[in-house]
Amino acid sequence: MLLPKAFIFDLDGVITDTAECHFMAWRILGEALGIDFDRSFNETLKGVSRMGSLERILTYGNKADVYTNEEKVRLANEKNKAYVDLVSKITKEDVLPNILSLLQSLRNKNIKIGLASASENAFEVIDRLGIRHYFDYIADATKIPNSKPAPDVFLDVMHGFGFESTECIGIEDAQAGIEAIKAANMFAVGIGKKSELIGADIIFENTEKMTFDLVVNQWLKGQN
Ligand code: BG6
Ligand code: MG
Repeated sequence: MLLPKAFIFDLDGVITDTAECHFMAWRILGEALGIDFDRSFNETLKGVSRMGSLERILTYGNKADVYTNEEKVRLANEKNKAYVDLVSKITKEDVLPNILSLLQSLRNKNIKIGLASASENAFEVIDRLGIRHYFDYIADATKIPNSKPAPDVFLDVMHGFGFESTECIGIEDAQAGIEAIKAANMFAVGIGKKSELIGADIIFENTEKMTFDLVVNQWLKGQN
């Protein structure tokens, strides 16, 4: 049977629930700045880089022109401190349901495993989860020119493997991430609500519902 050659995972919100930690850390900063935002606005931050997220929050709070670049760097560092504090509590128990068994079956089938996260904390998080050894290639967020929804991070992993885009499957929990996967011309798996994953080729409500067979059978339908 024809099989894909690589599964390329987003981290936050796909492998572990750190999307929630980013939300909490931004909310703490937002409170200090007098900018209140809810979960639906937070959806627009998912997959977006640290500085990109800060700019969006400031614009949302009508404070885009209030801070100098130096102050913005300080604010982003503050958010990161709160985030790092939250993720310091992460353990091996925090890998989302079914992810470990999926990683293991990919290994058994000799399918490459990549990580395409926008987070500069990605290495620390996967180390805390005890899963770094599963990954054949991990993109370094500090070296990716354009963040999601640009395809760069997925293309970086794909080039790392030397595969064609049609041989790769990307997995994401954010609209910006699905757009990045599609812009890279890969098959896109969405985790979450349909309304927040427009353009995905297959969507699962949560990782528990995602299985290798369901993903690959859908991927196969698009192969000639
Ligand atoms: C993405 C998250 O994975 O990483 C975003 O979805 C986050 O919410 C981005 O802003 C950058 O993360 P970090 O850890 O470098 O601030
Ligand atoms: Mg994510």
